[in-house]
Amino acid sequence: MTVSSFFPTLVYSARLQRTHWRSFNDDLLHECLQLREDDTAGVRWSKQNYPGGYTSYNSVSYMYQVSPTFAALRDKLDRHVEAYVDALEWDMQGRELAMTDCWVNIMPRQVVHPLHLHPLATISGTYYVQAPGGASGLKLEDPRLDRFMAAPPRKADCRPENKQWIVIPAEAGNVVLFESWLRHEVPPNPSAKERVSISFNYNWF
Ligand SMILES: [Fe+2]
Repeated sequence: MTVSSFFPTLVYSARLQRTHWRSFNDDLLHECLQLREDDTAGVRWSKQNYPGGYTSYNSVSYMYQVSPTFAALRDKLDRHVEAYVDALEWDMQGRELAMTDCWVNIMPRQVVHPLHLHPLATISGTYYVQAPGGASGLKLEDPRLDRFMAAPPRKADCRPENKQWIVIPAEAGNVVLFESWLRHEVPPNPSAKERVSISFNYNWF
């Protein structure tokens, strides 16, 4: 008997760097909080679209172009994206895969980031700047879920590759990468301290 596993969904997670990540995160955190102070358009947009939280998604989504700290983050992320591309065995055909968007998310307690995907991007991901114990993780949805018509539910203790939802824990200093079509959400954040992350897109040119 042969049971094969085809069409996997590859999700990458790693420490951004082995050393000095705390001081790097301190710098990033300072800039994220400062951005929330300065970005009145983003604060206004978040009130309508991200209740209780702050995101610069719709206002300042080019942080790597204006901040040397974020540019340094981009350079570090580039290397992780390269490793992910290797794992995906993509043939890049000599074309460039480059960061096109990078924005800040601050989630106080009970704030939710509803189910979504990242249109017009190739690889997306998140870097965790501050993730207090118990902060919500990143919940990923099986991309075939809308085609499961008569499929029975999965056993509660089934292998991760057979689950229909997976939660990647949020951990400060960790980077998570996924293909941009993969739907994901952040469930209500139970932690009293703010959960701060930086999300980004890479596009294939
Ligand atoms: Fe997202």
